[in-house]
Amino acid sequence: MNIAVLASGYGSNLQAIIDAIKENRIQACLRVVFSDKKTAFALKRAQDAHVCVVESFSPKEFSSREVFDLKVVELLKREHIDVVILAGYMRILTPVFVKAFENRILNIHPSLLPNFKGAHAIKDAFNAGVKETGVSVHVVDEELDHGFVLAQEVVDIKQEDTLETLEARIHQVEHQLYPKVIDAFLRGQFNQMKK
Ligand code: GRF
Repeated sequence: MNIAVLASGYGSNLQAIIDAIKENRIQACLRVVFSDKKTAFALKRAQDAHVCVVESFSPKEFSSREVFDLKVVELLKREHIDVVILAGYMRILTPVFVKAFENRILNIHPSLLPNFKGAHAIKDAFNAGVKETGVSVHVVDEELDHGFVLAQEVVDIKQEDTLETLEARIHQVEHQLYPKVIDAFLRGQFNQMKK
């Protein structure tokens, strides 16, 4: 199976995936790493790991979101990508993208979906004063942070937590959970899933 990772930022989840592939905890070939941000540290991680295709182009260079997504889809198809992994990719995919890889796009989100969707999920949960939050891995559809949930893990919010300590624990959970779910997905363990 060929996979691609799309990331916009630091790329710690990308790194967890790279490490898991090296250690055979994910059986797949990471063929493409793509970013919509040319300065994303994720690109450096991909280069250091000698990923075959490390590519970036900016949405600003395209006339619409659809045209941009079509260009990304074209790249992924050219490289025979089977499954697309979003890892901190800060864009909502347009229908042209979702349809091109229907039920073959995964995302990780730092909350227990459907709670706390959006770009500030950890902070929003922390400020809401809830006792627990967590991490979700889901199939991507055309709605933000929506789609069939494949796995979730709870993270308790302790009284002594600061936003920073909570973020650190959530990221630790992400780095364990995402590789496991990706590998299970690639092995077809979710084939019975509902849409
Ligand atoms: C993670 O918290 C992920 O759940 C969210 O964006 C963040 C990306 O972090 N979608 P990184 O770039 O993988 O370090």
